[in-house]
This record gives sequence, structure tokens and C-alpha cells, in this order.
Amino acid sequence: MIKKFFQSTNNPEAAFARFVLDEEKCNGCGACVAACPMQILMVADGKAAPNQRYDHFRCITCQNCVATCPNKAIVIEGDYRVGAGFWKNTHLFENGKTLPAPIRSRAGEPFEQIEGQLTETERVIYKRRSIRLYKKKPVERDLVERVIEAGRFAPSAGNNQPWKFIAITNKQVIDEINDKCKRSLRKGTFIMMPHAYLDKKTPGDPNAKLNWWQNMVMALLCRIKTGDVEPRARGGINTVTSDPDYHIFFNAPVLIILLADKRGIGSIQLDTGICGQNMVLAAHALGLGTCWVSLVRGLGFYPAFRRQLGIDDQFEIISSLTLGWPKMQIDNVVAREQARIQWVE
Ligand SMILES: Cc1cc2nc3c(=O)[nH]c(=O)nc-3n(C[C@H](O)[C@H](O)[C@H](O)COP(=O)(O)O)c2cc1C
Repeated sequence: MIKKFFQSTNNPEAAFARFVLDEEKCNGCGACVAACPMQILMVADGKAAPNQRYDHFRCITCQNCVATCPNKAIVIEGDYRVGAGFWKNTHLFENGKTLPAPIRSRAGEPFEQIEGQLTETERVIYKRRSIRLYKKKPVERDLVERVIEAGRFAPSAGNNQPWKFIAITNKQVIDEINDKCKRSLRKGTFIMMPHAYLDKKTPGDPNAKLNWWQNMVMALLCRIKTGDVEPRARGGINTVTSDPDYHIFFNAPVLIILLADKRGIGSIQLDTGICGQNMVLAAHALGLGTCWVSLVRGLGFYPAFRRQLGIDDQFEIISSLTLGWPKMQIDNVVAREQARIQWVE
């Protein structure tokens, strides 16, 4: 029983998705490298390749590399599957990923062939990808307000509208938030990462283990902070904190921090998430790119700075959205896990 408890942090039988490249098609442009949120790719000898430094914590299967590649040279094979232990998920996802198939009778047909029959809203839903490559070009204030306006009309419990927006276009301020968030995340990595990962000079060792006290703390954190210490989340945090040049807001020209009023009705986090997704869809329909960045919650450790930004203590930081003009065409369909549906008829 005790052994089982401490096993929680280990990831026995974890299988990650594999990056498969058609070398003939790859022109080494590096678009996939820049688009990958986990920074697990690099260009070596003029071709895209997995970056061995982060080999231990691999792909989150977002498929932004696939969507970004101008030559369709990339396939992501397989999925994140854990066969045993606390993080076991093989019993939840048995059928693998598929491309969008909203018209059931035409499932299996290429998306381009059914696209014409879909509504504009559906097209944005299926083709929107998180954008992490932005032009320097500023976004006019009118457009930022237009995106926020879409959030204002989101549904909320009891119509309580608990959201508040901090819209930042000042690059220096965005950079300062980036620095502060990275600093607080780095503190967490001392607890969550094997020593080999903390030493910037040591490339990631796939066999590196947590030491005894980290194992004890992690076993506990798995139960009380499950989502924050999930193995892939830890891999992402490792990436972010160990690369001094990584900008958690991707140097986007606009950052919108989404807050929720703690005095709101019911589930203020859910309401604010719905509000944010309205904004995301409206932005994409306008040709703008967005990416949710919850790592902004690291700001919680800087109360004085928070207040300076207009985040008073009555408000909780829910997440943030980067906003800007995409540097290249990334929006595209990708495969996702099949829906877990339990029919009751
Ligand atoms: C609540 C939330 C928080 C997220 N936080 C981050 C983040 O901190 N950094 C990041 O690069 N992406 C973040 N993402 C983006 C996800 O990685 C992305 O949505 C996912 O991989 C699917 O890819 P897609 O948005 O291109 O479909 C977040 C997404 C959501 C919904």
C-alpha cells in the first residue's frame, strides 16, 4: 500500500507520441521548432529532429508542428499512454485519435471535402490552433476591444459576469511578467524535477530519478495539486524554466490576463473560461492568433506587482491569452482523442 502511494510520481509504462519526419519533404525551415510549445524539436543538419535535451518528457500531441509544416513533412504517431500507476490512462482512451468528423455519415473523408458544408463557427472551432508565432505588428486597440467584447457576452452562472480583463500592450511590462512567472515556476522545479534536469549544463537524462524526499513530496502533491504536477505539465515547466530565452508569452504584442471576482456566484473559474473561449474564437474569426497561457498564474507570488497591474486581492488570476497577428499560416485541422461518450437512451 505504501509502495503504491509512492509510485504515484513515477510513470511506469508511459509511452509518448513519436515524431516521424519525411526527410525528403522537410526543407529545414524550422517552423515546427518555433511552433512546438514543449520545445522538443530542433533543426539538425538542415532537417527537423527531436531535441534530445528534453527527451524524457515528450510530446503533448498538440500537433502544432504538423499544422505549421508548409510541406506536410511531419506525422505524429501514437499517443501519450500510461499503462499503470497513478497516471494510468490506457483504459480511458482505447480508440486512438481521429480528425474532425462532424458529419457522421461522411466520417473518414478528408476534412477539405466536408468543409464546405460546415458553418463558419464550426470551421473556426476545428481549424483554430494555438498561435505561438507572432508578427511584431501591433494590434489596434479597436480590435483588442472587439475581442474582449465577445467575452463580455459569454454565459455565466446567475449572469454574474465575474470576469475582469487586464489588457497589456506595453512590451516592457509583458517582459517583466514573463520574468516573474519564470522565476516562480523555477522554484517549483526544485521539488518536481530530477537533479539532472535542473543543471542547465546537463542534457536531460531519460533515466534520471527524483531523490527520496522529492518522491515523498510528489506523492502528496499528486493528490492535492494533481493537474500542476502531471508528468507532461512538469516537462513543460522544465522546458520553460531551463531555457533563458523562452518567452512564456511568445513575444506577443498583446497579453490579456483573465481575472475572476471571488465574490461571484457559483463557479467563477468556469464562467471566466467560457468568456475566454468566446474571445479566442472571435479573434480567430478576425484572423488574429491567440494562445491560452495559464503559466501566468505564477504572478500569484508577487502581490505588490499584481496590485500595480490592477489585480486587487478580490480577484483570482484564472489564465491569460496572448493575442497578435500570426507570423504564418498555422490554423489547420489536427487529430484528437475520440470523445468518451456514455449513451443513456
Ligand atoms: C487553460 C489552458 C491553459 C493553457 N496554458 C498554456 C501555457 O501556459 N502555455 C502554452 O504554451 N500553452 C498553453 N495552453 C495551450 C495548449 O497547450 C493547447 O491548447 C493544446 O496543446 C491544444 O493545442 P491547440 O490549442 O493548438 O488545439 C493552454 C490551454 C488551455 C486551454
